[in-house]
Amino acid sequence: MAKVDKNEVLFERAQKTIPGGVNSPVRAFRQVGGTPRFITKAKGPYFWDAENKRYIDLIMSWGPMIVGHANPEVVEAVQRAAETSFSYGAPTEGEIELAERICAIMPSVEQVRMVSSGTEATMSALRLARGYTGRDLIIKFEGCYHGHADSLLVKAGSGLLTFADSTQNAPSSGGVPQDLVKHTLVLPYNDVAAIEEVFKKQGDQIAAVIIEPIAGNMNLIKPSTEFLSVIRNLTSKHGSVLIYDEVMTGFRVALGGAQSLQGITPDLTCLGKVMGGGMPMAAFGGKKEIMSKLAPLGSVYQAGTLSGNPVAVAAGLKTLEIISRAGFYECLTGQTEKLMTGLKQAADKANIPFVVDSVGGMFGFYFTSQIPTSYEAVTQSDIEAFKKFFHLMLDEGVYLAPSAYEAGFTSITHDNEVVDAIIAAAESSFKKL
Ligand SMILES: Cc1ncc(COP(=O)(O)O)c(C=O)c1O
Repeated sequence: MAKVDKNEVLFERAQKTIPGGVNSPVRAFRQVGGTPRFITKAKGPYFWDAENKRYIDLIMSWGPMIVGHANPEVVEAVQRAAETSFSYGAPTEGEIELAERICAIMPSVEQVRMVSSGTEATMSALRLARGYTGRDLIIKFEGCYHGHADSLLVKAGSGLLTFADSTQNAPSSGGVPQDLVKHTLVLPYNDVAAIEEVFKKQGDQIAAVIIEPIAGNMNLIKPSTEFLSVIRNLTSKHGSVLIYDEVMTGFRVALGGAQSLQGITPDLTCLGKVMGGGMPMAAFGGKKEIMSKLAPLGSVYQAGTLSGNPVAVAAGLKTLEIISRAGFYECLTGQTEKLMTGLKQAADKANIPFVVDSVGGMFGFYFTSQIPTSYEAVTQSDIEAFKKFFHLMLDEGVYLAPSAYEAGFTSITHDNEVVDAIIAAAESSFKKL
């Protein structure tokens, strides 16, 4: 009798009560095909599926698990917090400590409001920017994903890039009114002329420009220095709010996020992922002058039953403490670069067109011969080769993001042994491509 795979059994069962069998679309393996792995436990750089097969994890919960899974210090902090209840709906000292730590790490953030997801952070930051400026129009860039708030689901990356049949300026999702989307202008990433043109025509109507300062939702795409400085100058000149969506890059590409590497001071910053250490925790913050427009001080409403949740705060505080220790980012960056160099050499040996890039603990690899700089370019990479590579690596026990449009993530526990094992798996996989 053929052996029954427990992941398949769970997937069948999940699809009966959960749409598509998953609680977030990319988990369903739709782009790469096959059966999603159902995870039972994780430790450090590894997780195990329902068949008790071990994988080296290269998504790390899509970014948050930068200190490794089930880090003992974080587990202890969470256990201690949980013993005194999970939620109060009233303020706690821990929230102040977390806010103070964030403001100290990111000087552009003078005040910060905690929420429970990156989607809430970007949605609230936009509302605040609109309330502050009294304007409606926002600018976003092709292939950037800022969560699933209605007005941001236009040419949005990753999951939507994987699934949606999006045409220019049409919503990337069903259920989003065209009326809402008309307030969102979508421009190509890294296109200086396009943003100059829009500001020339409509600068005084633009409430905000929202950007992934290093894009991670159309694979990893870096901005040019000129692109960023033009955006900063134009938004300042026209009184528009510059929102850095650092939900992915914050505390991941460097302790102070992309803004610390780029020398840009945004007006508002959105944070998530790492700041909660794997718990539902996110935030938006920035200039006090803008943040003071939020309720209860100002007229822009924003609230949350579980905002600043004490267990999530405990996980976030401990995670931020660990990543602030001397040498953390040097080590993380070095290991990630070593991994990327190894993957590139393995592909070269097999004569496969393949390029790599990374910043801190975030990386991208592309089945093409030049590192892409736009959404357009990334969609021209060899997706069929990626799909085969994904499954070969999975068989070898390495879990990559199940889409060619996602960045990858390492942790401080991806040590030499782990990196060497991934490179060996890649050598064997490239040979079979
Ligand atoms: C840059 C960016 N912004 C916002 C979000 C939305 O965050 P969440 O999934 O926590 O709602 C994501 C999620 O991947 C993201 O990468």
